Amino acid sequence: MKPMAGNEPTITSAYRSVGVTFDSLVCVSPTFQEALRLAAGAASKDVAILLLGETGTGKNLIAQAIHNASKRARRPFVSVNCSAIPDTLLESELFGSEKGAYTSSDKLRKGKFELADGGTLFLDEIGDMSSVAQAKVLRAFEYKQFERVGGEETLHADVRIIAATNRPIDKLLADGRFREDLFYRLNEFTIEVPPLRKRREEIEPLALRFISECNEKFGTRIKAIEPAAMQRMREHTWPGNVRELRAVIKRASVAAPADALRAADLRLTPAATPSDESPTNGDTSLAGVEAKHIERVLNQTGWNKKESSSKLGISRPTLDRKITEYNLKKPE
Ligand SMILES: Nc1ncnc2c1ncn2[C@@H]1O[C@H](COP(=O)(O)OP(=O)(O)OP(=O)(O)O)[C@@H](O)[C@H]1O
Ligand SMILES: [Mg+2]
Repeated sequence: MKPMAGNEPTITSAYRSVGVTFDSLVCVSPTFQEALRLAAGAASKDVAILLLGETGTGKNLIAQAIHNASKRARRPFVSVNCSAIPDTLLESELFGSEKGAYTSSDKLRKGKFELADGGTLFLDEIGDMSSVAQAKVLRAFEYKQFERVGGEETLHADVRIIAATNRPIDKLLADGRFREDLFYRLNEFTIEVPPLRKRREEIEPLALRFISECNEKFGTRIKAIEPAAMQRMREHTWPGNVRELRAVIKRASVAAPADALRAADLRLTPAATPSDESPTNGDTSLAGVEAKHIERVLNQTGWNKKESSSKLGISRPTLDRKITEYNLKKPE
């Protein structure tokens, strides 16, 4: 892309959003239907969108569906996971770097803003971005201009921003972790994606969807879910939401000895009993219960983080972050 000109960037398949549409999402509950109705309505309006919701609720999929339903659908959908990129590299990742900007940089690298020109830039886990990086994003977004690291030329890019975070936004704002100016700009349109426990009627259709995905992908031949297994899934609290459900179904489908999933195949830890809850010291806030649940799963797996993150249906970096956030300690 040349600076200050409306040249067409090359769209490579790597930057095209995969074919996720609103119709391809499993959606039967009134709460999720309402979230998707808002998202579909905003898709055509070219406003910035902030997606809020717990981990695994479907924010990435919704971002892609919004892009695919927008006027920018034929342009790139570029995703940046802000929590996965160290702060020192985030600026060059977003805005690019000139040849020689770093001792190791032997060629010009385009940033995600440039690559997303004309399309959508999905800033995932925006709550993990530093305040300095947030200020630069705000400028690039407001004035559509930025400079590559080590460059003096001002470049222009026209991107629609969709941002997402699974952290409580009120707390991020109160702690000064999320800049208010950026928040108000992104808050043009906020969509809250409900957790799976608030749309339990979706568990069965989602489970059936994931079973058929497994049958297709792994050649498994699961035909049904036994009533007791379905009951067990309805009772589970699903802290890892749809991602956790998907992981549970995948593991169960591959391991099941018969063509119907039984409750035992799911290997779900029993629902917390009141006595299990007492160590929360009466902290019934969502964060308190989440911290306790994560600690319980970590203890069950002997603090095997790989197994724990898989059981919880969250990524390793998310687990590490939550361990730090809740100050969880391995028992001596
Ligand atoms: N409504 C749905 N229909 C089908 N699959 C879904 C749906 N919602 C979520 N999934 C699946 O659940 C998994 C998690 O979804 P996604 O990655 O969009 O969550 P997220 O909200 O972005 O999570 P995080 O905050 O951890 O990034 C993905 O495998 C996705 O395909
Ligand atoms: Mg996500």
